[in-house]
Amino acid sequence: MMSLRKLVAGNWKMHGLSSDLAEVRTIAEQAGGYPQVDVALCVPSILIERAARAVPGFAIGGQDVHHAEKGAHTGCTSALMLLDAGAVLTIVGHSERRDAQRESDADVKAKAESGLSVGLNVILCVGESLELREGGKAVETVTGQLDGSLPGDLHSAAELAIAYEPIWAIGTGKIPTTAEIAEMHAAIRARLHDRYGADGARVRILYGGSVKAMNAGEIFSIANVDGALVGGASLKAGDFIPIVAAAAAVEGAAPIA
Ligand code: PGA
Repeated sequence: MMSLRKLVAGNWKMHGLSSDLAEVRTIAEQAGGYPQVDVALCVPSILIERAARAVPGFAIGGQDVHHAEKGAHTGCTSALMLLDAGAVLTIVGHSERRDAQRESDADVKAKAESGLSVGLNVILCVGESLELREGGKAVETVTGQLDGSLPGDLHSAAELAIAYEPIWAIGTGKIPTTAEIAEMHAAIRARLHDRYGADGARVRILYGGSVKAMNAGEIFSIANVDGALVGGASLKAGDFIPIVAAAAAVEGAAPIA
């Protein structure tokens, strides 16, 4: 099986003021010690430009993007605006937005296509609720989300990654078992093959939900886990960089499960 370079992306959510730019600098500087891993920070849109200027060459991203190129969409941010501010990637379809902003799979697909079309790398999130997990419907739910939200084709100029984030694992300290993660990531990989043929093999599949330094090594060693989307533990270099180090440590090792 082909092993992809790991991507560790931080999702700062609604955290980050000017006073936190020093932390962005520390993270970028320390991440430079692990050149075998791709590292990114997705910050609030209003902080993107300052963060990007603070750490030239380090990947700064957004957390959402509007599907339209421009227009009468009060309060929204287009893909070109993100790019113009210095972002190189964006998250789309995070469960907090699917829930609070009622974003549908079709919305998420349009957002992903809008980002990719201007050359922004996209991390597209999927994940099931606890109720669906307990009802034995986790894989069916996630593959259904993929069917509705995967972009029509893969652009060569920008990269698509998928983040599997079980809703019940986000910010809770609970994580699925190794077998559950392996099963889901294999199902996602199969869907990507069905959709994109051989190119599906180069789409990175990240795991997200309560990733911490203490569990990262085990998560990164699971087959088809090509990195992580990290929330709470990405806010401080002291929590985030050990996760990057864990990704670097498994480079080249044989995956389990
Ligand atoms: P968490 O969040 O790491 O704080 O659980 C992950 C996410 O929502 O992307």
